[in-house]
Amino acid sequence: MCGIVGYCGPENPVDVIVQGLKTLEYRGYDSAGVAVLNQGKFKRIRAEGKLSHLEQKLANETFDGHLGVGHTRWATHGPPVEKNAHPHAVGSTSIVHNGIIENYATLKAELIDEGAVFTSDTDSELIAHLVDKAIAGGKDLFHAVIEIIPKLEGAYSVLAVNEAYPEEIMAFKSGPPLVVGRNDKEVVVASDLAAIMPYTNKVFFLQDEEVLHVIGTKIEFFDQKGQKISKKETVIDWSPELIEKQGYDHFMLKEIYEQPRSVAMAMNPHIDLESKTVRLNKVGFGVGHVEELERLDSAADWQNTLNIFKSVKRVFMVACGTSYYAGMVGEYLIEQLSRTPVECDIASEFRYRHPVIPENSLVIVISQSGETADTLAALRLAREAGAQVLSICNVKNSSMDREADGHLYMNAGVEVGVASTKALSSTMALLNCVAMAMAKAKGQLPEDQEAELVESLLATPSHMESVLAYDSFFAEAASTLKDFRGFLYMGRGVNYPVALEGALKMKELAYMHAEGYAAGEMKHGPLALIDESMAIIMLAPSDELYDKTVSNLEEAKARGGKIISIGSGKNEKLAALSDHYLALPEVSWTINPILELIPVQLMSYHVAHSLGKDIDQPRNLAKSVTVE
Ligand code: M6R
Repeated sequence: MCGIVGYCGPENPVDVIVQGLKTLEYRGYDSAGVAVLNQGKFKRIRAEGKLSHLEQKLANETFDGHLGVGHTRWATHGPPVEKNAHPHAVGSTSIVHNGIIENYATLKAELIDEGAVFTSDTDSELIAHLVDKAIAGGKDLFHAVIEIIPKLEGAYSVLAVNEAYPEEIMAFKSGPPLVVGRNDKEVVVASDLAAIMPYTNKVFFLQDEEVLHVIGTKIEFFDQKGQKISKKETVIDWSPELIEKQGYDHFMLKEIYEQPRSVAMAMNPHIDLESKTVRLNKVGFGVGHVEELERLDSAADWQNTLNIFKSVKRVFMVACGTSYYAGMVGEYLIEQLSRTPVECDIASEFRYRHPVIPENSLVIVISQSGETADTLAALRLAREAGAQVLSICNVKNSSMDREADGHLYMNAGVEVGVASTKALSSTMALLNCVAMAMAKAKGQLPEDQEAELVESLLATPSHMESVLAYDSFFAEAASTLKDFRGFLYMGRGVNYPVALEGALKMKELAYMHAEGYAAGEMKHGPLALIDESMAIIMLAPSDELYDKTVSNLEEAKARGGKIISIGSGKNEKLAALSDHYLALPEVSWTINPILELIPVQLMSYHVAHSLGKDIDQPRNLAKSVTVE
């Protein structure tokens, strides 16, 4: 996930771009750069690290042109060093890219065969090569971009500029967001409204497969074949309340949209980008006070965590509500990757079932608030029994954070909506890191598998951005969905907790009957519930249980249920079996649950909204349950 900005107008583009990048720094900050016209050429300045490093470098530079692009990076392909920072320049072309080009290896190999020389480790650089090659072949900037778009597979939003077209920016996207705003004298195009609002409140949101052509202050939109399309301008008219919600109708929707960022923030501290390895950062087992964590020596702390994990014979995951479902995902991940036995418990059950907590147990408590009474009691019980307790909290310095032996943070930012959204996806990302760390400690994770899993994890925020596009599908489908008698969510393996979470969200927000089931359990009773008034949400990603899940889907279909299936990539079989098939990016089994969350969250949100329910404060509930 990265942030991009382009500017064409009378101001110094560097000022506008850097201001814009500041508002986008939440999208990534491991390097930044600009390419701005000067004396008819793009002058490119890039810097490793935070935007402030780029600002220091820019302080002594002058630019006389009026067009430029900029980027703040969150690394996926290639470590966060200057050569991998954007913009990428080839010949007279410069580009900035947010997303992932999935077929980059094939395209790069073809270009290298033709003699292209790559100067970075990124997937993005090849876009600059492709555009520049098309221009060298006689195309203008517009037609060069139209020619190369069909070659790109994956998630992308891109700005492309070329020195021969000093008033033009080409922008195109499939997945990650792009917004353009224009006033009488200038055009700003960026990943997020925040970078545009200082200049105008009249904007256009680019949809997937749309292309924007900026020429001076003129903007035109096209489809990917180069056919002109018309688009409606959106006037942003925010009340103070909307500003707090950043334009979203509800905090919940804002928080759903924040997930690519919060997932990145959760995993960032624990991944070494250069070596593609996991290294839990400053967990602080045995340190005693959370205040001490910052002062810890990272290397010594990591060794200490590895030693503790190595000695662990049994893991308990304990939490309530949505956090409990995160724990279930952790159970599948830790058990499968590290071959360590894991038990996952609801805190109110755990604390009263007189659990047997053998020696060398690790109890992981999960809580967004860090204050949930039952989970806190479970933590205390586990410590009294002599277990090491690792807390995963969002609120730093909360009771659980202070009382636990080791500490990890969701880093999701404040979650206002009572319905938990981003805390769950962040925890799932974090649990991927914990499971890999446990597997490493147990000698169960070969280097190549670790690199593969880390790469999948790093690609997750970008994939999440594309999945958010299902917002419009559910906004439209909600008026039909709300009339169903009930909802049955089904999944297997690591997807099963997402089925439970989908049902919880529907109950909590829309007050409708909803059940989450392990798909294999259907024929043991719940199949009797199914008729045409029941909506079935089937989580059927392409994993080792896929065929079995499809059989369960066929059973449900035979009973007349209306089926929404959620699977991986283009899948004609699932599409034919379902009333609606939602394709998610094809990712590793460890990541599927994170992506599946987004459609189930959006579905509950829109059904509840269409029923006029109080989304951010559902009846009878509280954000933090500090009583039994
Ligand atoms: O703060 P916690 O994570 O400990 O809260 C646990 C549950 O109360 C919470 O996840 C609840 O289930 C949410 N409202 C679900 O959206």
